[in-house]
Amino acid sequence: MAVLPSLEASPIWHPYTAVPATGPRALITKGHGAYLYDAEGKAYFDATSSWWCNLHGHSHPALVEALEKQARVLDQILLAPHAHPVVLEFCQALLDQMGAPFSKVFLSDDGSTAVEAGLKMALQYWHRQGQPQRREFLSLELGYHGDTLGAISVGHIDEFHKVFSALLSTRKSTAPYCYRCPLGKTYPACGVACLSEAERHLEEAGDRIAALVVEPLVLGAGGLVTYPAEYLDRLMDLCRQKGVLVIFDEVFTGFGRTGTFFAYEQLRNRPDIVCLSKGLTSGMLPMGATVATQAIFEAFCGGEKVKFFHGHTFTGNGLSAAVALASLRLLQSERVLERNQELSQFMAGQAERFRALPLVGDVRHLGMIWTLELVRDKATRALFEPANSAGWRIAKRAWEKGVWLRPMGQALYVIPPYCSSLEDLQRCFDVLYAEVEGEG
Ligand SMILES: Cc1ncc(COP(=O)(O)O)c(C=O)c1O
Repeated sequence: MAVLPSLEASPIWHPYTAVPATGPRALITKGHGAYLYDAEGKAYFDATSSWWCNLHGHSHPALVEALEKQARVLDQILLAPHAHPVVLEFCQALLDQMGAPFSKVFLSDDGSTAVEAGLKMALQYWHRQGQPQRREFLSLELGYHGDTLGAISVGHIDEFHKVFSALLSTRKSTAPYCYRCPLGKTYPACGVACLSEAERHLEEAGDRIAALVVEPLVLGAGGLVTYPAEYLDRLMDLCRQKGVLVIFDEVFTGFGRTGTFFAYEQLRNRPDIVCLSKGLTSGMLPMGATVATQAIFEAFCGGEKVKFFHGHTFTGNGLSAAVALASLRLLQSERVLERNQELSQFMAGQAERFRALPLVGDVRHLGMIWTLELVRDKATRALFEPANSAGWRIAKRAWEKGVWLRPMGQALYVIPPYCSSLEDLQRCFDVLYAEVEGEG
């Protein structure tokens, strides 16, 4: 049986991992449904959906079947400008699900590349419109859009981005972080006053900004900060007044995470470009998609000199497309989002008992995303030092009890696979409750 080497001895350089490791480690040998199993056969409830990807459960038979079938027929082709039936069917099915005004799907490898493609689309679009001076981006404090250079330039989480931040510049706007409102106000009485900084940027440089890049309704890696739809709708109104494009990074929020198929369905406005990944293949294979309106696409029509200068070797890979199509069909045919409502209501019902705990400053819930914010002092909202330290202690103890959690800064979250049962969630929240209570 394979053994798990120490981080120092391992041939793997692990992502976002302190050496020596802060949290628990395991050799995971099997996944089934909402559970992962280690080499000793111990089961862990996957409360992170394996980095927010897994929708239908691990190794879902319909996805395995689609993958096997496609692997026997066709794996990978050069998609410039060829196609294969499954990628055609998938892109059409995705557009049908998304509805107007979306018209074209550009495929890539993951969330970061989906965002990179979106940023480059916006820049090249403005060149074609005779406005090459539109080279800046507007994005939110605490925003996260991936780890490639373009994506980090529009991200604003100091811990992740500070070292690299001098590379490119972006206009940063106040995060709508209601629990820690920088203006000391309360929603809705505040009238969304935190928009004022974005307003200032748009006044100052509206004709130099190519696009707003934003995670709709929840700033994921920034601490799972949910925020009012009104904030984003009004921000988009301001962008529209200045002709600024809007890119929604739905890498995390897409495919039902926020309760609707896409987060933009909860808004009045529609973006020009939507970036997707994570739930796209339910986490089975890497894949990204950047979906654009017809107006954006048309700017790239007109021959060699104006084509979109972007592509990845695995763009439109047959296996990823087959799995993405199977995952989309499952979401539709099994009416998964309707089924999720019961799970979501259960999650909403947890808020009260957690809020009463001394170390819980805030509880946030949206669709299939549930978060608590740990504070050292409830009155002052002071954080632990480092912010994730209490979270890791709690996660370690929950791990022993078979619940896989991972803190995100001061946030500890439950983002479960959609195949979870109410009993799975009950156990997960009971373990979490006992461990947060035990911490203080
Ligand atoms: C909102 C958002 N955008 C982009 C990314 C980057 O995706 P990937 O890690 O697949 O490159 C992430 C990853 O967590 C994300 O949450």
